[in-house]
Amino acid sequence: MTKPGYILSLDQGTTSCRAILFDHEGAVIHTAQEEFRQIFPEPGWVEHDADEIWKVQWKVMKQVAAKVPSGSIAAIGITNQRETTVVWDRVTGKPLHNAIVWQCRRTSALCHTLKEQGMESSIKEKTGLVLDPYFSGTKLKWLLDTFPHIREKADKGEALFGTIDSWLIWNLTEGKVHATDVSNASRTLLLNIHTLQWDDEILEQLNIPKTMLPEVRPSSGLYGHTALLDPRQPVPIAGAAGDQQAALFGQGCFREGMAKNTYGTGCFILNNTGDKPVLSKNGLLTTVAWQIGDRVDYALEGSVFIAGAVIQWLRDGLGVIGDAAETEALARSVEDTEGVYFVPAFAGLGTPYWEPDARGMITGLTRASGKAHLVRASLEAIAYQSRDVLEVMQQETGVRLSELRVDGGAVRNGFLMQFQADLMGVSVVRPKVTESTALGAAFLAGLAVGFWGGLSELEQLKGLDRVFQPERDEAYRETKYAGWRRALSYQLNLRE
Ligand code: G3P
Repeated sequence: MTKPGYILSLDQGTTSCRAILFDHEGAVIHTAQEEFRQIFPEPGWVEHDADEIWKVQWKVMKQVAAKVPSGSIAAIGITNQRETTVVWDRVTGKPLHNAIVWQCRRTSALCHTLKEQGMESSIKEKTGLVLDPYFSGTKLKWLLDTFPHIREKADKGEALFGTIDSWLIWNLTEGKVHATDVSNASRTLLLNIHTLQWDDEILEQLNIPKTMLPEVRPSSGLYGHTALLDPRQPVPIAGAAGDQQAALFGQGCFREGMAKNTYGTGCFILNNTGDKPVLSKNGLLTTVAWQIGDRVDYALEGSVFIAGAVIQWLRDGLGVIGDAAETEALARSVEDTEGVYFVPAFAGLGTPYWEPDARGMITGLTRASGKAHLVRASLEAIAYQSRDVLEVMQQETGVRLSELRVDGGAVRNGFLMQFQADLMGVSVVRPKVTESTALGAAFLAGLAVGFWGGLSELEQLKGLDRVFQPERDEAYRETKYAGWRRALSYQLNLRE
């Protein structure tokens, strides 16, 4: 039976804040979105203003909530860019520094040092992660070691750390709740994914006071209430998960062996491995997918740092397009890239290379190369990087993929989806609601307040939009992919 009311999902991504209202059928009822500033203080460094994030998130949330009667929002679910590190003052609630974004490479040298000290294997065994600047732990250490006033406050218990989920929960509850969900916690480099506790030994090795850390909670459950929308009717905050884990949940990948690829700022492929963490031998990450009650699900993850971000760079950095939507027609306006390959390693390379110091490069330019070739090469790069991860994933799990479930903003680009199917030789399955991330957070919150009764009910809500079948033969696929591997090798060799 359809229940009245809505679930409000807050999707705080790398480049924009979104608020989406879902009804009981899992349909999008209202949505609001706004971008915020990207701050690049030095090459390879990326920051956000955490206060601005909160203000923009609050603005879009208010806009959407205003469209339905007060009291009709059954719960709020939060999902967020992961790893991004915020430190704030417990008393004033003000950030003590700009947030250090997951893409930021500033702790590359620190990670090398920690590797030299022999920490890599125990970190991997305990956290499921690799020693890369991507994760929050070394970013937090950098803040504490670089700014004496932050260290001093932390030692006095006056500085708090959180990923963006914690920052939003803190603000929504007006400083009453300092908590994170276990999927976000599993991206910090500080959580033991077997015990689901902060790891005292790692904290000591990195010299991070435990008092700064949020309480770790299940992904579905009551975090607190927000009275900001209507003081007379506080709304429960009942679910939280990192955006990639939320997308896996929103795609209905509830069982072992089910996988999805989300095309957002980056591309993140997650494969549900059930209730056991599986440690990778090939550069995949082991991560907590979610916790519901006592049941914990884990996933293997391949992380591509730059996907949609390359399109944003074409627009904002290079100025060759005015809008991301133009890229499809431009890419289709040429038959081929004519040998142009774009390796968009703006933030180093993630899975499976883990090369924090790699940088972007374009190869194969000729006098005939134009804007359309560059745009097409940018879109193709998203698909090549996804294939790199899927190759490793298939090798690791020993299971050949029969189809790829996709979601995220860039899946609206039909050229990209068709190219992905052609390049992989598998069907690419696009759902009706491509906002799987927000839907996953809504599901987690809705389950906690009884808006939905259980996973089988959620499974009924999934609808298909389109399946892209491979249209090219193997020779095409392998020739194109070999060109990509060659371009990539120039970048990797350059750095040796
Ligand atoms: O790990 C980083 C990831 O959570 C960022 O997601 O959606 O902002 O690309 P997105």
